[in-house]
Amino acid sequence: MSSASAPGKIILFGEHAVVYGQPALAAPVTQVRAEVRIEGTAEPGVWIDAADIQLHTRLDTLPAAHPIAATIHNTLKMLMSPLPSSVSIVIRSTIPVASGMGSGAAVSVALIRALAAYADIALSDEDVSALAYQTEIIHHGTPSGIDNTVVTYVKPVFFLKGNPLTTIKVGQPFTIVIGDTGVAASTRESVRGVRAGWEADRAHYEGLFSAIGSIVRTARQSLEAGTPDHLGPLMDENHALLQEMGVSSPELDRLVVGARASGALGAKLSGGGRGGNMIALVPAGKATAVAKSLLVAGARNTITTEIA
Ligand code: MEV
Repeated sequence: MSSASAPGKIILFGEHAVVYGQPALAAPVTQVRAEVRIEGTAEPGVWIDAADIQLHTRLDTLPAAHPIAATIHNTLKMLMSPLPSSVSIVIRSTIPVASGMGSGAAVSVALIRALAAYADIALSDEDVSALAYQTEIIHHGTPSGIDNTVVTYVKPVFFLKGNPLTTIKVGQPFTIVIGDTGVAASTRESVRGVRAGWEADRAHYEGLFSAIGSIVRTARQSLEAGTPDHLGPLMDENHALLQEMGVSSPELDRLVVGARASGALGAKLSGGGRGGNMIALVPAGKATAVAKSLLVAGARNTITTEIA
């Protein structure tokens, strides 16, 4: 038997612009996790049991391009180690699906690590992240690679596509309240919408992307310098640029406004947008009040997490 798990994630700054070569900052959220267990079974075949997405089937019945099947095939190819003939792969996740919290990337990373552990072969973080990226392409079409990276390394990251990974040393820990709109939103569709906007008006969108890039660089300095309070106004600015890009939604905006009104230092959508989650930076002692006001403003659920 083997098992592995991987956390969810939030994008602190820079979603969407990161697809176009700007940097972004992201952090793991360990309160939610994807877990994979691989164990022998009496039934012949390789069985996939992913109850959260109502999937209980044999691997050979899934199309090769199914994200779970593709992850298994790509990983086994890299490991050069087939699975035994009777085995069950059990996948469970507490990360909300289609919510911008990296549930797809977390399932991939947990699955890759569980397969490697089952074969008793060590894979480097780089290999794990590269394999998970292959599945991100199936999920999202043109992913930047930030989700698989933060979920693999489980550290706050400054991510710039095509550049070596930079993990961030947070100068002073700070608290984020995450609010879930409860609206499922496909990152693929949202990324596609931004691409259509960019194709229609490149100059305008490139201006938005580079304004977001500047926010990300300033935010990185505040994070490292230990002045997280400076992040609030930067979050507000980033949210306004994402609204202009067309990836916010009335539900997200309601939560962002509600968070600010109840004492958050700043708030923005996080991830693909058009639904899913938003984040609010809260001063010490305010997390409960902000979480309550998010629920009043329509959040289905909240998570309070510390970025350290
Ligand atoms: C998704 O978590 C973040 C996006 O920027 C897409 C990507 O980077 O692949 C919206």
